Amino acid sequence: MQLFAGHRIIKDEDGCIAVLYLDKQLNEFSLEFLEKSQEKSQRFEKSILSYIKKNLPNVKVNKVNIMLGSILITSLTFSSAYTPSSLEIDREDIQVPTKPSISQPTEDIDKGQIQESNKPSVSQPTEDIDAGSDISNLQQGIYIVQPKDTLFKISKSYNITIKELKDANQLMDNTIHTGQTLIIPNESNPKTEDINTIVLNPSDTLVIVNKKNSLPSDYVPKNLVVPNVPFPFQEFHSKKLMRQDAASALEELFKKAEQDGINLYATSGYRSYDRQKSIFDSNSKKYGIEKANQFSARPGESEHQTGLAMDVTSPSVNYRLTQIFGETKEGIWLKENAAQFGFIIRYPKGKEGITGYQYEPWHLRYVGDEVAKEITNQNITLEEYFRFE
Ligand code: DAL
Ligand code: ZN
Repeated sequence: MQLFAGHRIIKDEDGCIAVLYLDKQLNEFSLEFLEKSQEKSQRFEKSILSYIKKNLPNVKVNKVNIMLGSILITSLTFSSAYTPSSLEIDREDIQVPTKPSISQPTEDIDKGQIQESNKPSVSQPTEDIDAGSDISNLQQGIYIVQPKDTLFKISKSYNITIKELKDANQLMDNTIHTGQTLIIPNESNPKTEDINTIVLNPSDTLVIVNKKNSLPSDYVPKNLVVPNVPFPFQEFHSKKLMRQDAASALEELFKKAEQDGINLYATSGYRSYDRQKSIFDSNSKKYGIEKANQFSARPGESEHQTGLAMDVTSPSVNYRLTQIFGETKEGIWLKENAAQFGFIIRYPKGKEGITGYQYEPWHLRYVGDEVAKEITNQNITLEEYFRFE
């Protein structure tokens, strides 16, 4: 049984905070661990320690935050009693994230050093569970303090006063530290352009990933496969991958295209968080961050990390990803037929203000037949479908 999907490390003053992401649904997790039995809580702690010992053997961990999506489930101070060397590990308890082995990007990417944005991320948990005192603040927005945050910056982001923030958190002064959990008062009104929420449902076929909703950096979809469709290059590359469900649908789409005499090629599917970071950094260096972000997503904000997206092109545009593709017979066919197979053209012309990206007639996103047909028939975007705009 796998308990954790992955982790993130935040540097602390004299060590680190380990943020571990549960690979479970809330109901599964509650059933398994949240009963107040000593045996269960020991088993849970042991799993945490095993994970740390296995995955972070050389890291000085001061604190462990356990996350379920963006909900902080519990925060444990990592006492010296638990130094990795003193652990007795039950090998069967070791939970290692199973990432598919994928090759490194082969593109010649110029890794320019662009400062990453440090946008606050907030969760507004909707699940209402009564799980005892270990689970705190699930009714309210929770914000985990990031490096370089100040109360001023956070209060501005949520359009609240520093006093409201301090009162809600019973802070005596303005000192906050990285990894600290802050309650964001319910009545606060986040300035959405400043807020980026980490999605709670990264593997949902209908997940919204955009400039306001990011995937966890450790998220790797399960069941990535290479769809049996033509690519303009022969060798294996991770960008050939898609989630199994999306890959099967893409194969059907390409089969129908071939029957209709339409010559399509797939060029770019799954991208890891790190690969997206390299691509975005490279584009930012070339075009500047703002311009780059009109066509290239920041890491965590790309649908390509879901395994549900594929960029499609044709020989008629020399296999390029260009807006002209939308005017070719292949591009027109794609727009007219994608929905039948569960895909939408994710970044349509005229909807740039809603999607946040320029027109991309080549970027297919799998959402399933029903939703794809509704979105296409209504001429709307995924954001509008979910009223996220
Ligand atoms: N081109 C799309 C927006 C991406 O980078 O994911
Ligand atoms: Zn794309």
